[in-house]
Amino acid sequence: MSAASSPAPIARAGVMLRVNGAEHAVPAAPEARLLYVLRNDLALNGPKFGCGLGECGACTVLIDGQAARSCVMPIAGLHGRAVTTLEGLGTADAPGPVQRAFIDAQAAQCGYCLNGMIMTTEALLRRNPEPTEREIRDALKYTLCRCGTHIEILAAVRLAVQYWRDAEGDRHR
Ligand code: FES
Ligand code: FES
Repeated sequence: MSAASSPAPIARAGVMLRVNGAEHAVPAAPEARLLYVLRNDLALNGPKFGCGLGECGACTVLIDGQAARSCVMPIAGLHGRAVTTLEGLGTADAPGPVQRAFIDAQAAQCGYCLNGMIMTTEALLRRNPEPTEREIRDALKYTLCRCGTHIEILAAVRLAVQYWRDAEGDRHR
């Protein structure tokens, strides 16, 4: 076969994703997992790779406000849905209430699990701004911390409840 008749390279199908309020055409296959697209194509490194099996929660993002494990989520089904990552909750200068609570409570040892803890807490407070201790523990029980920092993390979540309430009060003032 001559060079002139060589088949053109197959273009990779692009998928439109709405992430942190911005639209992105990502050059990834529909079956690509969201975590890899966020980190490798969009340089959003808040979500972490832990187990890659949907079991540890390190990769948690919000999909339409609900916590979801991005390491096992194909991007194909996400057209028109709102993806929020840790970066979408605030900035270093203006962290969101949950981020600020985790900073103030110093709820980290290595910090690798904190993306999952913060995103899971954010999802909890969006649906239930005044959770009981039982509801907090139930929401976080499948988000794993290898360093055993659970006591500090629970303290951070309680502080986040308070900061969330304060932020709601400011919004209605
Ligand atoms: S990396 Fe996704 S659940 Fe562990
Ligand atoms: S602080 Fe290290 S895994 Fe949670």
